[in-house]
Amino acid sequence: MSNYHIKHLEEYFHVYRKSVNEPENFWEEIAEENFVWRKRWDKVFEGDFENAKFEWFKGAKLNITENCIDRHLRTRGDKTAIIFEPNSTEEKAQHITYQQLYEKVNKFSNVLKGQGIQKGDRVCIYLPMIPELAVATLACARIGAIHSVVFAGFSSNALATRINDSDCKIVLTSDGSYRGKKTIDLKGIVDEALETCPGVESVLVAKRINTDIPMKEGRDKWLQPLLDKASAECEPEVMDAEDPLFILYTSGSTGMPKGMLHTQAGYMVFTAYTFKNVFQYRENDVYWCTADIGWITGHSYIVYGPLANGATTVMFEGVPNYPDWGRFWEIIEKHKVNQFYTAPTAIRALAKEDSSFVEKYDLSSLKVLGSVGEPINEEAWHWYNDSIGKKKSPIADTWWQTETGGIMISPIPYSTPTKPTYASLPMPGIVPCLMDKEGNEIIENQVNGRLAFKTAWPSIARTIWGNHKRYKETYFSTYKGKYFTGDGALRDEVGYYRITGRVDDVIIVSGHNLGSAPIEDAINEHQAVAESAIVGFPHDIKGNALYGYVILKDAALERDHDILRKEINQKITDRIGPIAKLDKIQFTSGLPKTRSGKIMRRILRKVACNEADQLGDTSTLLNPEVVQEIIDNVLL
Ligand code: WTA
Repeated sequence: MSNYHIKHLEEYFHVYRKSVNEPENFWEEIAEENFVWRKRWDKVFEGDFENAKFEWFKGAKLNITENCIDRHLRTRGDKTAIIFEPNSTEEKAQHITYQQLYEKVNKFSNVLKGQGIQKGDRVCIYLPMIPELAVATLACARIGAIHSVVFAGFSSNALATRINDSDCKIVLTSDGSYRGKKTIDLKGIVDEALETCPGVESVLVAKRINTDIPMKEGRDKWLQPLLDKASAECEPEVMDAEDPLFILYTSGSTGMPKGMLHTQAGYMVFTAYTFKNVFQYRENDVYWCTADIGWITGHSYIVYGPLANGATTVMFEGVPNYPDWGRFWEIIEKHKVNQFYTAPTAIRALAKEDSSFVEKYDLSSLKVLGSVGEPINEEAWHWYNDSIGKKKSPIADTWWQTETGGIMISPIPYSTPTKPTYASLPMPGIVPCLMDKEGNEIIENQVNGRLAFKTAWPSIARTIWGNHKRYKETYFSTYKGKYFTGDGALRDEVGYYRITGRVDDVIIVSGHNLGSAPIEDAINEHQAVAESAIVGFPHDIKGNALYGYVILKDAALERDHDILRKEINQKITDRIGPIAKLDKIQFTSGLPKTRSGKIMRRILRKVACNEADQLGDTSTLLNPEVVQEIIDNVLL
């Protein structure tokens, strides 16, 4: 188990040096000692940034579910793999052992096969946070189908776009979902989406809220009766190391969402390795990540990373404020959670509530706290550290992306001293650098730059589904020979990294990446709108909120602004989902543009952030006069 589990700082430096000096030996040892392979690799790594082509453990054969499930049966068969904590406190939690998970996954795999799903087929999963979601992803992996999980908060339109982009043949969903006091008609959303998805042949529906829903003859089937009839044995498909494992969509600054493709071996090795170290997971610990499996955090650190380590992983169906703001702490006490992983937006919302919600519960089981998704501000960091961690559970501020597959920069708890707002040091095998706008590497400390990586790591995304050109352009063309993240960062004198936020037109709202272009497209669909631009502005809880500038068509100038605002937000909800709604909408007669006609978002951002005094020179604009109008009417 050399290198696999880092326990102190010196060991980190030692391991890190080795990982950089001899990356292939480093990853080879980890792969050899901690996983089961059907066939060994011929070569540890082959690839280059030029062609954006990466192959890890080339020639190896494996099945990731054998690593996540089968191999644990002998020693951990009765150990709980998944604790399912339902939305309602009235409903009992479920403890699913590794043996039970094995049976569930095999049955589900056989059901998929029965629907004609084969290796390489794409399966869209649109399910709430119920055990079927985790089981469905693993069942796809077992038979070599490629899962594409779509977060069950996306609208029918967003769902349809994703289904069509990757030609999914089947959709797995449920009759509905619970979210706090509300229920959501998921199947209705699927039905609407499928009106524009001719490639979908079947829909399997899990029962969750037990409502009467229409089932389309010949297309829709209830899942449970099929599972009841299925065999609990399903031979895992033997996969090539570089066969696709899943597609997961993430927003870009322009255009369609990008279907990031991850493959088998490298993804497995890296997520398992980082899980073990970042959470310092020990046998019999209970680990809980509050993310939804619809996002990369859930894929890597609810499902694959924990299960590959034989861990106990909690899946929570509900929300932090139901039945009240003590729910997270109640769950930690109830399941004696040792590692807790959440997002700054949740931390800020929880910190605002009365401290009695925290004090009521025994949080002494906690050993490690994690944060992910956006920069964690100093105040939130201290609250998390003091009120939740009681200053004894180190915070792992983990920086990574859908594209990176796993955690790239993070303290290793109990080894790396933590520093508020700093994600700190790179994981072994990861070589970050900071670049300036001209493409030079920044060597000095405390200088704002752009975060890039100099070498490939095992779980780097392999492509954008169906569009390798866009993949190359987005990530590998900004800085030659480097992977560009889209994030700004700086480095302190000891080499700790602090992430400052996106430097492109992606806006992170409550930890969700939102591209400005699709939101603007949705706004522009409103028949009263001539043109629009959105920017982010700081928000206490969400981190960023959205500010829209909208030019109305002449015919709509007299219309009631509040009604228009509601209608515009409804358009966004319909096209993307409620997460992308605007907090503020300012109507304006123009937008500041460059002489080549490009909207100067920098100016719009400054105004929305109440920093109009820092606009700089605006005289070179095509229409400088509009800037004053925008400042005069800003909604603060
Ligand atoms: C941001 C989530 C600061 C960042 C795993 C990145 C962070 C984007 C952090 C990816 C962090 C994530 N500190 N910013 N610890 N973690 N981000 O693809 O801007 O949903 O580029 O992956 O979130 O978001 P994604």
